[in-house]
Amino acid sequence: MKSATQQPDYRHFDYQQLSGALGAEISGIQLNGDLSAAAVTELNQALLEFKVLFFRGQKMDNHDHAAFAQLIGTPVDADFIPAIKDFPMITRQQYDKYSRMTSDVNFHHDDSFHKYPTKMSVLRGLDIPDFGGDTTWVNMEQVYESLSEPLQQMLEGLTAEHSLAKNFTGVMLESSSGAAFDKMMERNPPHIHPLVIRHPETGKKSLYVSELLTSRIIELTKEESDLLLNYLCQKAYQPELACRFSWQKNSVAWWDNRNTTHRGIDDDFFPAIRSMQRIAIADERRPSLHPENEPVRDFSSLDIVPCNSLDDKPSTKPGNNSTSQPANIDTDFLTTLNETKAGITFTPEASIRIKTIPGPFRGAALSAILDAAEERNTVVIDDEILDIVQANR
Ligand SMILES: [Fe+2]
Repeated sequence: MKSATQQPDYRHFDYQQLSGALGAEISGIQLNGDLSAAAVTELNQALLEFKVLFFRGQKMDNHDHAAFAQLIGTPVDADFIPAIKDFPMITRQQYDKYSRMTSDVNFHHDDSFHKYPTKMSVLRGLDIPDFGGDTTWVNMEQVYESLSEPLQQMLEGLTAEHSLAKNFTGVMLESSSGAAFDKMMERNPPHIHPLVIRHPETGKKSLYVSELLTSRIIELTKEESDLLLNYLCQKAYQPELACRFSWQKNSVAWWDNRNTTHRGIDDDFFPAIRSMQRIAIADERRPSLHPENEPVRDFSSLDIVPCNSLDDKPSTKPGNNSTSQPANIDTDFLTTLNETKAGITFTPEASIRIKTIPGPFRGAALSAILDAAEERNTVVIDDEILDIVQANR
């Protein structure tokens, strides 16, 4: 990274580096859908350099937030946290003296329990306390580099499970029921990722472990796994490897989840309310030590056939290689999603038909559709879902 005294290389904005480890405050630019391609390219370069970018005084509404997110990638519709009205890709996190801060006070990569975790996040401050409620980010490349070489080598051969169950069990059981928790886990099953991953754009290695979501190291005994995970998670608490951001109304943070973790700080700012809205950007690859060998999810190549133009006949769309009837999975979305998420393997020739998606599950639906598309030639969906998927391509 450059020191603040060096001349910035960026033409479209100014920057002020926040710490020696990561983070820069960007000024002189307004985030919305009108940004030029050159400005977006420079912002992406700055994100690779600083890993998390902060913007203050952003006069944005939900449309601007969504339009900016679409300029930098493929937004994912909400799944685990419900979306706000009319904006399926925007989730709101609101903490008050009753709810307190619960889910994000432990370090985490956003959504690492997913098969394809969130690549980047764009978080916008709405209601901000006069003091407190900051967020800290940690440079996980430097956390990895802080380990000895023998330990680094050992970790490179290991994988770990990331699960909502690690820390959310108590919260869910307190606020709802065991059945609700079971349903949440059914829709968001754990996934296994390497303990060390390499950033596909910079080639740098980082530790892919978090205290919020990494539940166990697969190759070790439980005792060994607990000990090692505890040690690795504590390594994220090195202030020298972190930056801390004090929110204001209309502040925006945009970060890379592939080489950073973050946590909100619950320092008793109540009775004030801390309210923010987030958009998650989809990743094209799974986290990997060898991302160059990972298949890339192509959001633009999905062969989508609207139900009403199909009449249960095979697609005749040019370039579609499918010669099979769509599988007769004329079921409601939840059943389809649960079957898909539970790992039922359909034959490669089969297609999947999804007719309806209840609003709160649209993000999970998109993910299920893309997962299904990896194994099938054709995905058959109705008009409403077509709109959702096309908006995310
Ligand atoms: Fe988060």
